[in-house]
Amino acid sequence: MLTLPERPEVDQKALALLCDDFEKFRREPLPQSWETYVLERYRIDLTTRYGGKVIKNPFGKASGQLSHQLHQVKADAVAGLGFCVLKTVIAQDAGGSQSMKAWAIPVTRMQVEPIQGKDGTWGWTVSWKGRGWSGTFEEYLRFMERSLAVGREHNMLVVPSVKYHLPAPDETTWRVDEYAYTTQELYRIWRQQCDDPQMPLEKDFSPTLAGSDLAAQKGKILEWLRKTPKLIKSQLPPGAVSVGIKVFNAMFEDEFQLTMLQTLIDEAEDGVRADYLIYANRLFDPQREFDGQVGIAYGGPDLSARNLKVLRWLREREQAGAFQNPVPPISATGDIGTGKMALRYLLCGCENFQMHTLFQLPRQCFPKKNGSRIEKALHKLLFDPEDGFLVWLIHGRMHYGWADNDGITRLQGLTRRVERSVG
Ligand SMILES: Cc1cc2nc3c(=O)[nH]c(=O)nc-3n(C[C@H](O)[C@H](O)[C@H](O)COP(=O)(O)O)c2cc1C
Repeated sequence: MLTLPERPEVDQKALALLCDDFEKFRREPLPQSWETYVLERYRIDLTTRYGGKVIKNPFGKASGQLSHQLHQVKADAVAGLGFCVLKTVIAQDAGGSQSMKAWAIPVTRMQVEPIQGKDGTWGWTVSWKGRGWSGTFEEYLRFMERSLAVGREHNMLVVPSVKYHLPAPDETTWRVDEYAYTTQELYRIWRQQCDDPQMPLEKDFSPTLAGSDLAAQKGKILEWLRKTPKLIKSQLPPGAVSVGIKVFNAMFEDEFQLTMLQTLIDEAEDGVRADYLIYANRLFDPQREFDGQVGIAYGGPDLSARNLKVLRWLREREQAGAFQNPVPPISATGDIGTGKMALRYLLCGCENFQMHTLFQLPRQCFPKKNGSRIEKALHKLLFDPEDGFLVWLIHGRMHYGWADNDGITRLQGLTRRVERSVG
């Protein structure tokens, strides 16, 4: 079993390099192509994958309030994020009817607050009452079109996100026309902007869904997971869409999370499986209150603790040969605010990291005093000599042999190679 120590242990030379960079980029902008800088200076290749696509680095923006305007996407691209998942749009049919309309409500006040986990650790959560994209679908298509153009210019993968119809426990029909129209329109925009014939797409199962009557029955949730990959994929020619299922934290016991994953891996309808998973969206607390609403989603240390626990179980099951099919690639989300937390997800076999809360933290949380919030977050996430991603990768190289024969530590492949257990 690999146990990460409290603090990374690296030699003086590596530490001096990191301290220099941490101090330097506190004052100066990050290098234009900071992956190249990292490769040359630290012999760390951050290239990895998202939904089967090669991306220049593993850090991305998770879908939400920080990816619903073009200027936000531009800031992500300029700061050098590897990918950006756009705000979730609510699916509709050609006539504009939306069965999940209750999720298309306007943005409300958001509050970033400290939160203490059950184990006593402090972290951050964002409280709000909003849900999905509240503009029209046509506005979303225009937004996506422009975002894709920005992404192309800066080599940042841009990914749409959709909340499609899900039948309630007493409902048997699926609004397939909503799946068809929404998927085909998004793909039309994708093809106008991108040479790549395969569009990545996240299917969001949100935490507020977990707290709704819709998700009251385990059997119904499993039916959603069995059917949605096929429902999305069958709307386009084979291979045209790479479907990522963003798994939610249901209100049931932890073991049920594993049942959900097992269903996605081995029980997909007609064997049409998700191409990748995003694990896992925020927790839902039916008692937590914000702005007069009782029952809201939250994040912080309890979220990462639950996610990592379930991912560890998943890998143990995988190693024990419990699945008939390979576990799809996993994109991590949930309380990723330090390099160490990113590494802990990586040790569970996740190949990239998507963040939301980190990019909303108060300015005083970041040592870097200039640049955008995204740059400040990246500076801390990468170069922090005590807890940054680079110092932890160097730790791994020195103590666990995380390097190829040429001495370079490559993220791609490391996800699979590292022992999948975490301290
Ligand atoms: C204010 C807010 C809005 C969000 N909106 C969406 C959304 O529209 N679609 C989605 O898939 N996830 C949404 N999320 C979830 C995030 O994408 C992310 O997966 C989750 O917050 C866990 O990451 P974090 O701990 O870094 O915040 C939202 C989260 C927050 C805090």
